[in-house]
Amino acid sequence: MANRTKNDRALRFYHEVLGLERLHYGLWEPDDPRTVVGLKAAQTRYEQHLIDLIPEDAKSLLDVGCGTGIMSQSLLKRGYVVEGLSPDVNQRDPYMELTHGAPFHFCCFEEFEPERQYDCLILSESAQYIPLPDLFVVAVRALTPNGRIILADYFVKDGADGPMARSGHRISRFDQLATEHGFRVMHEEDITDRTTPTLDLARSAIDRYLFPSFNIATEKIRARRPRTVKLLRWFFRKKIASLKEEMALLDSAEFARCKRYMVMVLSRDKG
Ligand SMILES: C[S@@+](CC[C@H](N)C(=O)[O-])C[C@H]1O[C@@H](n2cnc3c(N)ncnc32)[C@H](O)[C@@H]1O
Repeated sequence: MANRTKNDRALRFYHEVLGLERLHYGLWEPDDPRTVVGLKAAQTRYEQHLIDLIPEDAKSLLDVGCGTGIMSQSLLKRGYVVEGLSPDVNQRDPYMELTHGAPFHFCCFEEFEPERQYDCLILSESAQYIPLPDLFVVAVRALTPNGRIILADYFVKDGADGPMARSGHRISRFDQLATEHGFRVMHEEDITDRTTPTLDLARSAIDRYLFPSFNIATEKIRARRPRTVKLLRWFFRKKIASLKEEMALLDSAEFARCKRYMVMVLSRDKG
């Protein structure tokens, strides 16, 4: 049972409003349409890319930060023994439903006390939420001696600053702590350029649908009660400022300047 549970409303928006099962960036091809259909295809490609990195002899997998369970479902279909882990109250029921009751650990990874060891830990865009060095400390306990961590996530470049640099682990610190905890990087791939269309799509959807819908919905009150609107703006000024900052985080050029989206395989073996 989780000591610290989460209720991530942004992830709920992607899942419940946009109808996305996969809660991560896409791995885009140049010809993919820049639409939700294109995003779903790019996300499926991303998932397949991670699955292709699972070693042939691996059998047991822990899907860390398993979201709705769609990755676990794909893994179960391929015959793996799969368990999921997430601290989010909104993900437990969809996970159980999608996986027909695969074991689900309702907790943060950093407080996870493994009762068995897994051949692979899959971290599909969840490493950024797990504090360091706890990620490696728990991974050592959770993995078989030759076990692997397969992860995809964005990392902050050394020297980057500003709002964009506030989410994600610093790449050099991550690498250093991985080494200190006995992990070796077996595979490393920078997929930044293939993920940023996800941000462009999100930005254009907000510009095209969300802002105009908001303007239409508030048109009457803005015309009839300008002073009330002014007061509301003042009352919610912090929310408005943080919304503006959120919008700035969808700038793909700034993302590429400050971050690297990486796919990595880390091994505990000595070979
Ligand atoms: C961006 S979503 C990715 C979900 C899923 N892996 C996917 O690819 O669709 C991040 C996931 O990490 C989970 N998460 C957040 N904090 C976590 C933590 N401390 N330990 C483990 N998982 C965490 C979230 O609940 C969510 O399931």
